[in-house]
Amino acid sequence: MKVIGHRGAAGSAPENTLISFAKGLEYGVDGFEFDVQLSKDGEVVVCHDERVNRTSNGMGWIKDLTLRELKNLDFGSWFAKLPIFQEIPTLRELLDMFEGINLELNVEIKSGLVQYPGIGEKVVSLLAKYNRLDNSIISSFDHQLLYDLKQHYPLVITGILYDCAPITPWLYAKFLKAQYLHPSWYFVTPELVTASADFGIGINTWTVNSFFAAKKVKMAQVSRIITDYPQCFRKGDNGETIWLE
Ligand code: G3P
Ligand code: MG
Repeated sequence: MKVIGHRGAAGSAPENTLISFAKGLEYGVDGFEFDVQLSKDGEVVVCHDERVNRTSNGMGWIKDLTLRELKNLDFGSWFAKLPIFQEIPTLRELLDMFEGINLELNVEIKSGLVQYPGIGEKVVSLLAKYNRLDNSIISSFDHQLLYDLKQHYPLVITGILYDCAPITPWLYAKFLKAQYLHPSWYFVTPELVTASADFGIGINTWTVNSFFAAKKVKMAQVSRIITDYPQCFRKGDNGETIWLE
C-alpha cells in the first residue's frame, strides 16, 4: 500500500503550495496528489478550488485571473500553523521541484463548476515533457474528460474519482479504459478490490486521515491511500504500511 500525500501534506502546511510538497518529501511519501486548474491566460496552476477566496488573500475565479495576478496573491498565510507567503505553484514549477526525485504523481484535473478548454492536453504534454507520464495518474470527477483524454492519448494512466457506491464500477472502469478507480474511503470494500483486480483495475482511495479509515482500507488491500497526514504512516518491518497513532 503506497502512501500519497494529499495536496502535498495538507494537514501540516497550506495545501497545494511548495512548502506543502516539501513537507511531504520530508515525510517520505511515495507520491503526491494535487489539483489543477487553468488561469485566464492558460497556465496550468495547482489549486483545489475554482475560486481563490478560501486559500488566498484574494477573491475571484482562477479562470478570470492571469498568472501574474494569481502570483501576487498569498496562498500561505491563511493556514494558521505556518503564516508564510506562498505563491500559487504552476504545474511546471512543481515538475521542476520534483526533477530527479522518484515519486508517483496523481494529477487531479478539476472540471465541473468550471470547464477549462484543453486542460487535459496541457497536463499530458507537461507530464510528457518532464518524462513523468509513465508514473503519473491523471484523475478527475469528470469522467467524460478522462474518456476523451484516453481516446487521444492511450498511454495515459487514468483514475476515476467518485464518492458514491456504484454497481460494478470495475466494468465502468473497463469501459473507460481506466487503470484505477479512486473511490472515497467510505466506499472501499474487500469485494471492490478483489473484483476490480480480476479486471486489472487497481483501487486508490482518499482521504484517509484516521486510524479507523486506514484500518478499513488496509484490510481491503487497496493499492494506494491518499492522506493529508503522510507522517502518520510508516512501512513496517515486513514492508506493510502501518498507521502510527
Ligand atoms: O483525488 C482525491 C481527492 O483529492 C478528491 O477530492 O475534493 O479533495 O480534490 P478533492
Ligand atoms: Mg484532489
